[in-house]
Amino acid sequence: MCGIVGYIGKRQAAPIILEGLSRLEYRGYDSAGIAVFDGDKINISKAAGRLKILEEMTHNGETLKGFVGIGHTRWATHGVPSTINAHPHYNREETIAVVHNGIIENYIALRKMLKEKGYEMVSDTDTEVVAHLIDYYYKGNPLEAITKVLHRVEGSYALGVIFSEHPDQLFAARKDSPLIVGQNEEGCFIASDVPAILKYTRQVTYVDNQEIVRLRGDHMHFYTVDEEEIKKESVTIEWDSKAAEKGGYEHFMLKEMYEQPKGVADTLLPRIKDGEVVIDELNMTDEELLSVKKIYIVACGSAYHVGVTGKYVLENLARISVEVDLASEFRYRNPVLEEGAMVIVVSQSGETADTLAALRESQKRGFKVLGIVNVVGSSIAREADSVLYTWAGPEIAVATTKAYSTQLIALYLLALKFARIRKTVEDKVFAGLLEDLKKLPDQIELLLSNKNHIQKFANRYIGAKDIFFIGRGIDYAISLEGSLKLKEISYIHSEAYAAGELKHGTISLIEEGTLVAAVATQPELFAKTISNMVEVKARGAFVLAVTNEGNMEIEKAADYVIYIPETNPCFANSLAIIPLQLFGYYVAVGKGCDVDKPRNLAKSVTVE
Ligand code: AGP
Repeated sequence: MCGIVGYIGKRQAAPIILEGLSRLEYRGYDSAGIAVFDGDKINISKAAGRLKILEEMTHNGETLKGFVGIGHTRWATHGVPSTINAHPHYNREETIAVVHNGIIENYIALRKMLKEKGYEMVSDTDTEVVAHLIDYYYKGNPLEAITKVLHRVEGSYALGVIFSEHPDQLFAARKDSPLIVGQNEEGCFIASDVPAILKYTRQVTYVDNQEIVRLRGDHMHFYTVDEEEIKKESVTIEWDSKAAEKGGYEHFMLKEMYEQPKGVADTLLPRIKDGEVVIDELNMTDEELLSVKKIYIVACGSAYHVGVTGKYVLENLARISVEVDLASEFRYRNPVLEEGAMVIVVSQSGETADTLAALRESQKRGFKVLGIVNVVGSSIAREADSVLYTWAGPEIAVATTKAYSTQLIALYLLALKFARIRKTVEDKVFAGLLEDLKKLPDQIELLLSNKNHIQKFANRYIGAKDIFFIGRGIDYAISLEGSLKLKEISYIHSEAYAAGELKHGTISLIEEGTLVAAVATQPELFAKTISNMVEVKARGAFVLAVTNEGNMEIEKAADYVIYIPETNPCFANSLAIIPLQLFGYYVAVGKGCDVDKPRNLAKSVTVE
């Protein structure tokens, strides 16, 4: 996610802003910038790369004199990482500067409107639109201009804005992207997160959705988007700065699990318009999509597990043949790729060596490659023929959670797009599927609220030697991910098995008390999976079941049941994986493992 810091007060603004941005580096970013009013005009310095570059450019802020300013570390969503795309962004007269965290979903329409009014864009970002739109509405009253803009933009934002005609004021506004404000005897601050200003004050006020703040050197005023002034309470932050970086969570992994509802919504909602799936980034016409007769999905690790799910969902909904491959296998097996096929590579980092090699191998053979990627401007994003970005925000923990969940969303959207074009799903069913997708963020939120029960259950297994995960169909894909989550952070041996495959060998490993997690979210397969649960129970296993609300049958065969809310079976992975993520996390925490940085692992495997 991007980081915002702003300051207005008695001290030089630039050093305070740069120090605050350095406290937000943990959020991940690819460029940084700062704007300060020097008494005459707004000066901006910005650069792609690390914050250090900006610090060197400005001699730690010395070259940017002034008492009011805004700064930004950018996590690219629209427009590759570059100096020109870095924030802050000016209006054309350079009398207004803006920093933004979030996604302006209707920026294309707004860009078009502004161009018709004579505005020229200099960057590829959605944010620049905000600077010009404020300019368009500004008639001398900054608050009025900002409120008008907030009525026009759709999407999520945390904004910092300064006006050269109002150097005694700093403005901030928020919708869905976090924003706090604070004050001490030397001035007032805005920031995306607590660590940025903890050095100056522990009294902060959390800005709520569609609220605007006008900060002066010694006081702040809060308004609604209708310019009504409101009163807000501040809170005292008890955390130390390390805890503050994790938003008060013990680990980045837990914080990122709790960011899944937002990441899923951010990846999903901008691509559902007027009851249709709209994926402009595909750069493929409906005819080109219709001509796709086969899909190859290639990835590693958890991204591969997403691909396994994608196979079931695409074949089920779009009746299109799908093959899934581990990238490390694909690149060396001299694959036979069918004419007219499409290759999809899935990667959070966009830098995984095997996946990048699979992309290049496919292109070498003349196939177009779609990248499903989380990091804008990464190697896979740059080399793929088209990119479908997941908007999970930067993922710090080595064990992926929110990127995994947003990758699932990307594949569901693709499946629905193909199903619509190939007319393999009736209108009514299609509409129902969209409704089920829209419910996922809240349902994930609900499952996350169950963490205490999961933690209690997990504590029983911190001494386990072997834990098995079984399931059929999509439940097998869920088992693969549940097993990986557990073993990669708790170091407990675990295997995922297609439930129907158990009797062909692995069942010999089941002993008295062995934990078997059975995933049963596919109604047509309930009976079969229940019989596999009975088989392992007969050999002494303790069976944890993850199943749909209302599937009471399962209680006959399970020792402990976790229920997930009602959704279409195609989307069950998005829900069933939540308790399994929490289970793996709490077993690892219970064992005292380094959850965010597990031994032997890297966040991105950029070597073979
Ligand atoms: C999953 O928790 C692991 N971090 C790992 O399996 C990861 O999914 C795999 O290395 C692929 O990484 P990528 O998505 O960045 O390509």
